[in-house]
Amino acid sequence: MRTTVFDLAKLKSEGRRFPMLTAYDYSSALIAEAAGVPVLLVGDSMGNVVHGRGDTLSVTVDDIVRATQSVVRGTQTALVVADMPFLSFRDEATAIANAGRMMSDGGAGAVKMEGGGAVVPIVRRLVDLGIPVMAHLGFTPQSAGTIGLKVQAKDAEGARALIADAEALQAAGAFALVLELVPAQLAAEVARRLTIPVIGIGAGPECDAQVQVWHDLLGLFDGRSPRHAKRYAEIGRAMREAVAAYVGEVEAGAFPTDAQSSRKMEDGALDEALGAIYGKGA
Ligand code: KIV
Repeated sequence: MRTTVFDLAKLKSEGRRFPMLTAYDYSSALIAEAAGVPVLLVGDSMGNVVHGRGDTLSVTVDDIVRATQSVVRGTQTALVVADMPFLSFRDEATAIANAGRMMSDGGAGAVKMEGGGAVVPIVRRLVDLGIPVMAHLGFTPQSAGTIGLKVQAKDAEGARALIADAEALQAAGAFALVLELVPAQLAAEVARRLTIPVIGIGAGPECDAQVQVWHDLLGLFDGRSPRHAKRYAEIGRAMREAVAAYVGEVEAGAFPTDAQSSRKMEDGALDEALGAIYGKGA
């Protein structure tokens, strides 16, 4: 049985915290689920960490659908949330079509959408149609061009607007809210006020849950970790060392050994084949 939005609501009501982690492919999904992550987000952060772009804007619905299929194949119990890319929910009809693809083609259990205000009626419509929606406020990377890559809602006006948006999204039926790069005191207040789980990233320890990006958590990039990320391992270094060892062994003729070589041929088979091609004594 997969984790449901009701399981997450129960965790919130019991005051139990949970982790969410991004995943973009089958093998990382297998690992994350085996490690006990109950919610996997197929995030449009793939634009940054998988596609090597400076932002998330070029990620397409097809990219997320394909990655979601892989993550779903790699999991049996995790709730898989598909991120709605830039402009894929710009109006109700477009949102319904694209969220529908995430669910029916991708196999997602829910979708995530950035923004408050204009997004609220779209959230309500999707929820009415049976699509669970995770909301996302604070720093919303798809709007980096207009809001700037910085901590959001630092003043009273920003905080008031964010709280109003959070409450409106909950009222519209969102089952959880991601808060990215907002002051910890504000995130704590939102988590206290909402009955749905508030999932923080760069939003302090008082959120009901946390989300991290796979590559940041595992230290896949040299010296490239956002301040809000904790590197739990140096997998990038371990991978580089392993690949360098492979390079060295191939160059030295030390790989492959007999152990990695294919089975021996039947006795005389090669001589017979060569004889057939080149004649006797070849
Ligand atoms: O795309 C993503 O990875 C996200 C998380 C950072 C919340 O939206």
